[in-house]
Amino acid sequence: MDKLLYINGEWTGNNLEKIKVLNPADGDLVGTVASAGKEETRAAIESAHEAFGPWAKLTAYDRAAYLDKLYDLMIEQKEEIAELMTREMGKPMKESLGEVQYAASFIKWFAEEGKRVYGRTIPASAENKRMQVLKQPVGVVAAITPWNFPAAMITRKLGPALAAGCPIIIKPPKETPLTAIKLVELCEEAGFPKGVVSLLTGSSSLIAGELMESDIVKKITFTGSTEVGKMLIEQSAKTVKNVSMELGGHAPSIVLEDADLEKTVKGIIASKFRNAGQTCICINRVYVHEKIYDEFTKKLVEETSRLKVGNGLEEGTDIGPIINRDGYEKIKKHVDNAVEKGAECLLGGKGQDEGNACFFEPTVLKDVNHDMLIMNEETFGPVIPVQKITSDEEGIKLANSSPFGLAAYIYTESMSRGTHLVEGLNYGVIGWNDGVPSAAQAPFGGLKESGIGREGGTEGMEAYLETKYVSIVI
Ligand code: SIN
Repeated sequence: MDKLLYINGEWTGNNLEKIKVLNPADGDLVGTVASAGKEETRAAIESAHEAFGPWAKLTAYDRAAYLDKLYDLMIEQKEEIAELMTREMGKPMKESLGEVQYAASFIKWFAEEGKRVYGRTIPASAENKRMQVLKQPVGVVAAITPWNFPAAMITRKLGPALAAGCPIIIKPPKETPLTAIKLVELCEEAGFPKGVVSLLTGSSSLIAGELMESDIVKKITFTGSTEVGKMLIEQSAKTVKNVSMELGGHAPSIVLEDADLEKTVKGIIASKFRNAGQTCICINRVYVHEKIYDEFTKKLVEETSRLKVGNGLEEGTDIGPIINRDGYEKIKKHVDNAVEKGAECLLGGKGQDEGNACFFEPTVLKDVNHDMLIMNEETFGPVIPVQKITSDEEGIKLANSSPFGLAAYIYTESMSRGTHLVEGLNYGVIGWNDGVPSAAQAPFGGLKESGIGREGGTEGMEAYLETKYVSIVI
């Protein structure tokens, strides 16, 4: 199936060069999409610009009605969206179904939150003055989204942008444009006015270059690598765009000796193996107190060995393919480097890279240390490295010894020790006995080189609003 660009309420781009989308589980062709250039990008920007005034003028209740319709359509068609997602990205069907539900939750939550965009009145310092604060939409938004969550990373941006009154131009990644196209088809069916939602598939550098140059695009929201995020921040300086950046992570997990082991191992597996470990917030390093080190690693290996690797479309698959060969090579390099430097591989450690697909076995490494690559770089794969610690302070120090600050996890039943860890960790999201902390109503985002701004929650709505202060003499 050929899929096109969506600009000014029309599917267009039949004449353009086409790009193939392949299934990472077997290399089969899933579909082809059009490759937009500068001209198409400019047309999308213009139509979003035209749409801005009328869309912003609608009441929050009217905008919510469109979003509610989109939510209903996503839920009605969740099987179809999930299957498409698994075919182009590889994650197991059960995870794809979970992602569609998660993606839809952003639409529902922000439809409601848009009705609560309050300004305020400030008590004035003179009798004849009135001081008001207004909240208004930032304007045209460009959203550049990643392949690891083909639906949810779009709706986490689209929901608040549209609820706030901003038109949005979506640029999905080359690996997973088909899920994005499906979502935009649903936007069309929900009846959003033309120009309110646009979709540009194709070369990131061409499209992003044009979006970043434009002084009509007032906000850029990006989820992806820190390297690309830094480049976009630099480019945004020219027109001083509002930016939201959700960048790389290297999530630590600290396990204290009073942790409930059952709950801990379950939480670590849920976090680490979600999406085959290809998640910005998945646990990348585990620090375990020496008193429970052996018992913990034994239990972790026992539970991890039950996970089944395979094609995400097959019943019972827990871990799908790695998105591409580069991703696979990086995982292999991290594991090989750790073993060469003295880590013990308790489970897995190998992959399959024959034919057109790469898979990696769920892997547990013990006795790792910070001289190894895996403890310093994001692996983006199904590998758990475990290091022994002797105190809470050592755990905090090691966990914080990273330029990243997206998510961290702690496992302890002690309120006071847990509070001490939470307060000492330089991370934007912390899961306490919880491997899956993300939710539409909660702020998500990182400190340090993991990003700028928050998505989700009231903070995620604020990201699409400008503050205007009015001082009135009466
Ligand atoms: C991400 O990996 O960037 C998103 C994960 C989530 O929303 O839970």
